[in-house]
Amino acid sequence: MEIKKEYMIGQGNTAEIYRLDDNKILKLFRHGISKEIIEREYRNGNYIQNKLDCIPKVYDMVEINDRLGIIYEEIKGTDMLKVMVTSLWKINDYAKKLAHYHLDLQIPIINNICTVKEKLEEDVNAVDVLSNENKEIVRKYLMQLPEGDELCHFDFHPGNIMITDNKAVFIDWMTACRGDACADVARTCIMLKYGEVAQAPWVLRKLFSFFQHHIYKIYIKEYLMISKRNIEDINRWELPVAAARLREWLSDNEKRVMVQLVNEHCEKIATNQNNSRNY
Ligand SMILES: Nc1ncnc2c1ncn2[C@@H]1O[C@H](COP(=O)(O)OP(=O)(O)O)[C@@H](O)[C@H]1O
Ligand SMILES: [Mg+2]
Repeated sequence: MEIKKEYMIGQGNTAEIYRLDDNKILKLFRHGISKEIIEREYRNGNYIQNKLDCIPKVYDMVEINDRLGIIYEEIKGTDMLKVMVTSLWKINDYAKKLAHYHLDLQIPIINNICTVKEKLEEDVNAVDVLSNENKEIVRKYLMQLPEGDELCHFDFHPGNIMITDNKAVFIDWMTACRGDACADVARTCIMLKYGEVAQAPWVLRKLFSFFQHHIYKIYIKEYLMISKRNIEDINRWELPVAAARLREWLSDNEKRVMVQLVNEHCEKIATNQNNSRNY
């Protein structure tokens, strides 16, 4: 299979996307993305395509010039991030849609996919910017959170939604897991509240953060209304989700903010434990 730069139609943090023919694309992973993680994306895709019809068909896993890739159905559309940026006057409508799309995806599932808690624990264990004491606090805290049995995308943001003529299609299921849907919402909130574009001039970064925060406020308000869930049920996932996010590549500033958030949560938990021991 020959891969030419001019066939590249997109890229993300983990991969470059090439058009193969009229209906298929190749997601070619960058060096350094582990085989285990790529196999997980392939397995998740195979499983979820039988449950939902709003994800691209998964065809094959391939190896090209020492790099692993997955062949998918091409979705003829534009990702929602681009759609939002080019139609800012409709941003409130799109932010509300984000909430509806998210709730629609959170169907109950039974098995075949790792649990939210397993995923969070695995990620927290791999973080190198938190103290061992705080990682232990996070692990213990995680244990008493609800299990749940809903499908969680766990990287649900406008860049992973393709808008076509008549529907939305959801891509990038590498991180998918099964558990409490509120964890998945907490993760989207953290990305919208604190996510940064790393390599951009200061003004653009500030503008981007402003719009993200605006989307966050509309998204969460709409989600709580349509799901009948409480903000407390979402917020209680903030600590493990923020700690796990530190495993990913983040800009220095975002990393600093995340570490501070996690350390503050851990300090509160430790103080409460000490106080209750003293009574
Ligand atoms: N099946 C697809 N059809 C069309 N474009 C796609 C498809 N999958 C990905 N893309 C494009 O490539 C970009 C990156 O893909 P994604 O799977 O999100 O990679 P990453 O895991 O690196 O974030 C998407 O935002 C989208 O623009
Ligand atoms: Mg992506």
